Amino acid sequence: MSKSYSDAIEKIKARANIVDVIGSLVTLKRAGNTYKACCPFHNEKTPSFVVWEQSQQYVCFGCGEKGDLIKFVQKYYNITFPEAVERLATQYGITIEDSYGEENAKKDGYYELNRQAARFFYDAFTTKANPGFSYMKKRGIEPKTLQAFGIGYADDQWQSLTEFMKSKGAEESMLAELSLLSEKNGRYYDRFRGRVMFPIFNTRDKVIGFGGRIIGDGEPKYLNSSESLIFRKGYNLYGLNITKGYIQKDNLAIVVEGYMDVVSLYQSGVCNVVASLGTALTLDQAKLLKRYCSQVVLCYDADNAGINAALRGIDVLRQAGLDVKVLHVDDGKDPDEYIKRHGRDEFLALVRNKAVADVDYKISLLRRKYDLNSTTEGIRFLQAAASVLRELRPVEQDLYIRKVASDYRISEGSLRREVEGGKSPTPQTENKVSARQTQDEAPSEESIAPSSLMMERTLIRLCLLNSDYFRKLSDYPEAFVSRSGRRVASAMEALLKPSADFDISDLRDVLEEEPYRYLEDILENVVPGENDGAMFAECKEKLDSARRRTRIADIQKILELGESEGQEYDMTSLMRELMDLQKQEKK
Ligand code: UTP
Ligand code: MN
Repeated sequence: MSKSYSDAIEKIKARANIVDVIGSLVTLKRAGNTYKACCPFHNEKTPSFVVWEQSQQYVCFGCGEKGDLIKFVQKYYNITFPEAVERLATQYGITIEDSYGEENAKKDGYYELNRQAARFFYDAFTTKANPGFSYMKKRGIEPKTLQAFGIGYADDQWQSLTEFMKSKGAEESMLAELSLLSEKNGRYYDRFRGRVMFPIFNTRDKVIGFGGRIIGDGEPKYLNSSESLIFRKGYNLYGLNITKGYIQKDNLAIVVEGYMDVVSLYQSGVCNVVASLGTALTLDQAKLLKRYCSQVVLCYDADNAGINAALRGIDVLRQAGLDVKVLHVDDGKDPDEYIKRHGRDEFLALVRNKAVADVDYKISLLRRKYDLNSTTEGIRFLQAAASVLRELRPVEQDLYIRKVASDYRISEGSLRREVEGGKSPTPQTENKVSARQTQDEAPSEESIAPSSLMMERTLIRLCLLNSDYFRKLSDYPEAFVSRSGRRVASAMEALLKPSADFDISDLRDVLEEEPYRYLEDILENVVPGENDGAMFAECKEKLDSARRRTRIADIQKILELGESEGQEYDMTSLMRELMDLQKQEKK
């Protein structure tokens, strides 16, 4: 973004208050530290749209829409980001220097050159017989499909495009910046020669670059546009301009490796497909997909490169909040070959039945590396699996610990301990925290075992459903481990009424932003379940067991020291207590 624009944004943020901006468009009600309204972005009767004055942010807990005031204006009026900035700038008397407009004009110039080049290749492909067309025909791609993707042909001469574009008044240096032309000793010549040309479009249907496939064998197989002012590979996906509607409709994107995979699947009627432009998937590409769907199936070649690309892809897609599965086709090198042999229905059946959830995929790959008949390798597998599971969100983690333990017949307990980093619970009895320790004294989030965080969430969820659970926890301050969790607990304590469940809106009203978000996150999954009672009992047993283990360690220490300075202790009763505790722990 240009300097003048970021200046303007800074000034807008300094002058405008999100509460005023939003308050002038929707009716905001003050609620504790926040303001609330019925969300303007989706239909609702009870307000789940919240504005924080302090952080100048808004969130709708109903539809997930969130952001700052510029984002709000953009969404509210359904305008682009620059338009929203301009609107607010006008409103607050801020002038924007015009360099943004200049940059856009420059980009438009490049888009136009690419468009003309694409047209030139397309005409060469469609108006007379040429090797490119025959090649694509031989590969089974029909004219209708070729047309949909705007596929063209660059002939094997050195100056065809150069001459054509010059006749249109285009500057050779600009064409070279788009890597349509190359230059040697001051002379320009066509960079793409003797190739089938795949124009690459952005989602606004502008031609941003090209991929050119050699006809038959040769190197490089694909020659691609280099990055330019208008072409950034990591921000775009091949085919998305055509397939985004299908992706949205299916709420699923099939991500493949190659141009031909996209074209071929699309032709066979699997239209929700994109390719990642020959590079590893980037977070920006993942976020781009997230605009259209929440699920992705990575369908890469089954070779090592494809497996590694899938492993990397899983992580970025997950980071963007997408659900990821992986599918390697079992017959044929890639999806293109598979669908040509087996057709649409069999391919879709594969997607349905053979695509493996990301975590299962990662762990099944690990499984192949180790021989579980050997104890040492078994331990290595356990450790490797644990490091995969450690990355998961608490709820999911718990689920997968059980699943992996049962799938691979390993002990759930050892896996769980390994996931927690093999750490034993920190001794707590001696310096036990006072009831509901305040949030400021809470340990940093990173030092808390994931399983404790997971349990905290479970317990808060249960307490919200039934305040009796909260009452039963009154002697277990250590159940709440995170800063936000402690804050929620202390708010619950303050709001606890003798014989009623918690009023969630009361709770919301007293919470600051961070614990508020934490609570909302938990609330997303609050549905009563038939196992709630058992789950609570399990959590409580874990708390008790942690206490016992701490006490055991303490007693052992005293007994060790006992020879010399244990006089003040009654050794016999300590021994008895220890044995008792150990017996309970073994149960
Ligand atoms: P593949 O080698 O798997 O090619 O490369 P493909 O898609 O199966 O192509 P066909 O079927 O032989 O025509 C996958 C993708 O990697 C990028 C391209 O985007 C290609 O579609 N690639 C591959 C290149 O950019 N350059 C190359 O030389 C090879
Ligand atoms: Mn192929």
